[in-house]
Amino acid sequence: MTLNGWVARRRDHKNVYFVDLRDRYGLTQVVLEGEALRAETLGPEDVVAVHGRVQLREAGPNRELATGEVEVVAESLEVLARSELPPFEIKSGIETAVEQRLQYRFLDLRRPDMLANLAHRSRFIGALRAAFLERRFLEIETPILTRATPEGARDYLVPSRVHPGKWYALPQSPQIFKQLLQISGTDRYFQVARCFRDEDLRADRQPEFTQLDMEMSFVEEEDVWRVWEEVLAQTFAEAMGVELPTPFPRLRWTEAMERFGLDKPDTRYGMELTDIAEWVGQSGFGVFQSALEKGGRVMAIAVAGGGEAISRGQIKKLEELAKSFGARGLAWWKPGQSGGAAGPLARFCADASGEALLARLGATSEDLILCCAGEQAMVWRVLGELRVHLARTLDLIPSDCWNFLWVTHFPMFERDEEGGWTSQHHPFTAPEDWELEGDPEKLTSRAYDLVLNGWELGSGSIRIHRSDTQQKVFELLGIGPKEQEQKFGFLLSALRYGAPPHGGFAVGLDRLVALTLGLDSIRDVVAFPKTTAAADAMCEAPSEIDPTQLAEVHVASLAPEAAGGEAGSPVDA
Ligand code: AMO
Repeated sequence: MTLNGWVARRRDHKNVYFVDLRDRYGLTQVVLEGEALRAETLGPEDVVAVHGRVQLREAGPNRELATGEVEVVAESLEVLARSELPPFEIKSGIETAVEQRLQYRFLDLRRPDMLANLAHRSRFIGALRAAFLERRFLEIETPILTRATPEGARDYLVPSRVHPGKWYALPQSPQIFKQLLQISGTDRYFQVARCFRDEDLRADRQPEFTQLDMEMSFVEEEDVWRVWEEVLAQTFAEAMGVELPTPFPRLRWTEAMERFGLDKPDTRYGMELTDIAEWVGQSGFGVFQSALEKGGRVMAIAVAGGGEAISRGQIKKLEELAKSFGARGLAWWKPGQSGGAAGPLARFCADASGEALLARLGATSEDLILCCAGEQAMVWRVLGELRVHLARTLDLIPSDCWNFLWVTHFPMFERDEEGGWTSQHHPFTAPEDWELEGDPEKLTSRAYDLVLNGWELGSGSIRIHRSDTQQKVFELLGIGPKEQEQKFGFLLSALRYGAPPHGGFAVGLDRLVALTLGLDSIRDVVAFPKTTAAADAMCEAPSEIDPTQLAEVHVASLAPEAAGGEAGSPVDA
């Protein structure tokens, strides 16, 4: 037999060399013995072919290796390629600076844990694909060179050589095409779709990422949800051996905000928000009262056992965090303490008033009570973020939980920075009221999100299939008839030729795969990811372009020459 692989480790004994050979499937011990098999020049990461025979390991099994029962006794050895000394050790779980990992990504991926991530991703996507095909979905590719699709981010643009002064946009999602495919009668479409968005990056965002995108005709919300519940349950069972209980819970957006302060609630732990407006009257606390008088909200969370567990110094940090989310301050109370240690709210919580607050919160004297007052959106955000932060820092999050949740009935519109309206989801989302009567702020959409353990995994909606409603939505969004025709004329035209009611959904595959591996960053499940500065540190993209090539596509650069390396420095990981 022949075993090919990379030299992971070499141990020399008198006239016998033991080499751990690594390939995608693991490590195998190779024994090289005798004059013809002198291996002292074999270095780490050299690529070799060992011809020999397999035998039970002479020194007894090595339980740490999958192949630890056996060893390969070499009869001959070929060195297929030599390796320079790698910049870091090729081993799972070794801490290496992220810049270096991304610069030498081909070596980083050679680590067993990274290869295992890629293998899991492949298996997971394979199982998803099979589940959709089994349900009569057609896999259809949509264009990459296209026009802008409004998903709320900036577009990546590609200049046209053939049409001077014109540009393609890379798709932020296949949204419009998948709707057109429904109008074409495909009935059930899906695609493993690459999407491009020029937006600020975080641990859960990349400028190019992959969606499992789908769309169905003649459906309502429940039909789409049922398909996803079935497909995910099947995929988790096949790819991970995990049983998911279905159906997933459903929560209206307003309830999600009231209870968790965020539209992607992590339901693995409690510490829910409580409205304490009623108690405010009894407390006599002027600041809270005036917040209510101005139409604001006063809400609280009780941190179980926080009276002891959270120091004043930590509370100060929580206050800073609250301020970073827009709060003017954070009122707190430790019912079990006295004097200054009890917190600024203590004097409004004497006797019956304090009892009433604890009863309202279902809290005990051991807890820490945190309150926030002011405009509703800010109060939700502050307490919602504090809840997540506290759960993480106090280690309240149980492991091995798969808390899926549908968040439904999102608002249709929200105010943008200039005071106009923007879509909460995207402009193709159907309203609950097709006529769009009344205050835009109060309109509810037929959009839904799928949340897993506090991460937004995917979004979707029932779509507008009527051109009059689509036009009304565009108008509300400040897109006039001329712009509508220019940007979306083809969609409006298609909607006039018999569009079936339809709806769909897209899951962020990078996020789903990362979550199923228990990883915090999607970078570890993307083979060649970008840095936080949207650069590829290995091939140094983006790069400058030769002026003649620019001229061919009728483009002149305005960028100052020296600016090249600064903002987009490829090593700023
Ligand atoms: P949306 O914009 O919510 O919806 O995207 C769907 C899901 O894609 C993932 N995602 C990302 N993942 C990594 N990096 C990014 N930059 C990034 N941006 C989004 C998220 C998100 O939930 N066309 C609609 C879907 C529909 O209506 O059917 C859409 O794209 O997990």
